[in-house]
Amino acid sequence: MACSKILGSTSFNPAKSTPFCKPKLSTRLNCNWPWRLVENKAPIICSLQSHCAWTCDDHLSLKSHPTRKSDILRAIDQTNETLFSTGKFGRFGGIFVPETLVDCLNKLAAEFNFIMHDPEFQAELAIALRDYVGRETPLYFAKRLTDYYKNSEGEGPEIYLKREDLNHGGAHKINNAIAQAMIAKRMGRKSVVAATGAGQHGVATAASCAKLSLDCTIFMGDLDMERQSSNVLLMKHLGAQVKSVKGTFKDATSEAIRNWVGDLDNSYYLAGTAVGPHPCPSMVREFQSVIGKETRKQAMEKWGGKPDVVVACVGSGSNALGIFHEFVRDEDVRLIGIEAAGSGIDSGKHSASLTKGDIGVYHGAMSYLLQDEEGQIIGPHSIGVGLEYPGVSPELSFLKEIGRAEFNTVTDKEALDGKRQDAYALLCRLEGIIPALEASHALAYLRKLCPTLASGTKVVVNCSGRGDKDADKVFKYQQEQMVQHLPDFE
Ligand SMILES: Cc1ncc(COP(=O)(O)O)c(C=O)c1O
Repeated sequence: MACSKILGSTSFNPAKSTPFCKPKLSTRLNCNWPWRLVENKAPIICSLQSHCAWTCDDHLSLKSHPTRKSDILRAIDQTNETLFSTGKFGRFGGIFVPETLVDCLNKLAAEFNFIMHDPEFQAELAIALRDYVGRETPLYFAKRLTDYYKNSEGEGPEIYLKREDLNHGGAHKINNAIAQAMIAKRMGRKSVVAATGAGQHGVATAASCAKLSLDCTIFMGDLDMERQSSNVLLMKHLGAQVKSVKGTFKDATSEAIRNWVGDLDNSYYLAGTAVGPHPCPSMVREFQSVIGKETRKQAMEKWGGKPDVVVACVGSGSNALGIFHEFVRDEDVRLIGIEAAGSGIDSGKHSASLTKGDIGVYHGAMSYLLQDEEGQIIGPHSIGVGLEYPGVSPELSFLKEIGRAEFNTVTDKEALDGKRQDAYALLCRLEGIIPALEASHALAYLRKLCPTLASGTKVVVNCSGRGDKDADKVFKYQQEQMVQHLPDFE
């Protein structure tokens, strides 16, 4: 049934169900799925497909920002109180799904709530994180990078890297994948489906499924399979079936969910990032929050305090929330998320959902989205494939709205220009660490951030992954820029 037909039905009353939102209709809408806002039982319509989104009136969306610090803490407390029952982060998140999925998501939420308080599961997970994933990851003092960003008086912040690149599989993704694969096993599921963009979540899921003897199918956009081909091979070596989907990560996500819906009793959809309907964003955040917990402990050991500033790249939000969450209530810790500005923030070719998007519903939850005037999803772009998603975690949307986290952008060229002292080259050549292009975005922001900070400020950058998957691409890119010699940093 066409979306416009359903929306035109008498039972639909958007003004009643979501006071600050209205649907933007388009003749191009073609919804196959009737979605439902579970919280207030008001029927609304959306789609698993990439086209359909809801958009908020601008004048209402930002009106009630808390501004005082106490307001921010109260907003966080209120969200914590309601989160486990409704999946709402303020007005973001929720469960915008077809009724057929509600039961399945409820079972998953119940299992998640159970394992969070189950000492047996927690002990098993702690062992897996230590002996399989390789945690804890170091908090590394990047001495030469720190020196590089000092001013002419020899002053500047101290830069530390949280080394998620050292995890098994080469990224933070395994923290969540192993935990959810353990949940799938406990729920008696035989197979796992997942979607991947850069391939890191695909590799992490394939590895976790091999370890736990679960069948594994990974959906990946055909463009991404080409751009991150080394990870496609790794997934296959790990025993996963890799299915090509026309498009990129957003299209692979839609296809993975469709596949899961076809066999809800036996298969498990393993969300790789903090988006989707409740409980997916909370589960992923929770399993990634080990990053921030370790960072607090390690900072205390190293300098006897907290970080002053925490920086992370934002694709859909899992590594950022993983390191932010622990510090959300520490108002003296600045939290900075870096989105991909791609070819330029005003070029229309970027992935900056929080910076440039509007509020709407996509893949089962309300959050900031890249969408056009008619509510159609705009394809994202970044040189960091893992940053290409047109939406973002509802929890990050909430942190933006209450002013608890700052968000900035970095262009492709600032992360990798192939010829000068870009963020990728700097980390390779100053520290001997090859960062993923996604993490290079967080690192690139240091160029703007460092001159604004007092000397000795402790900055922790989440180095979310290593750059093996990008090495080919970077080499070709550098050749295109006709780089004969990279500069000497002595
Ligand atoms: C190394 C790395 N960092 C960051 C990301 C972005 O994802 P998220 O925002 O969920 O951390 C990805 C996604 O694939 C990734 O592979």
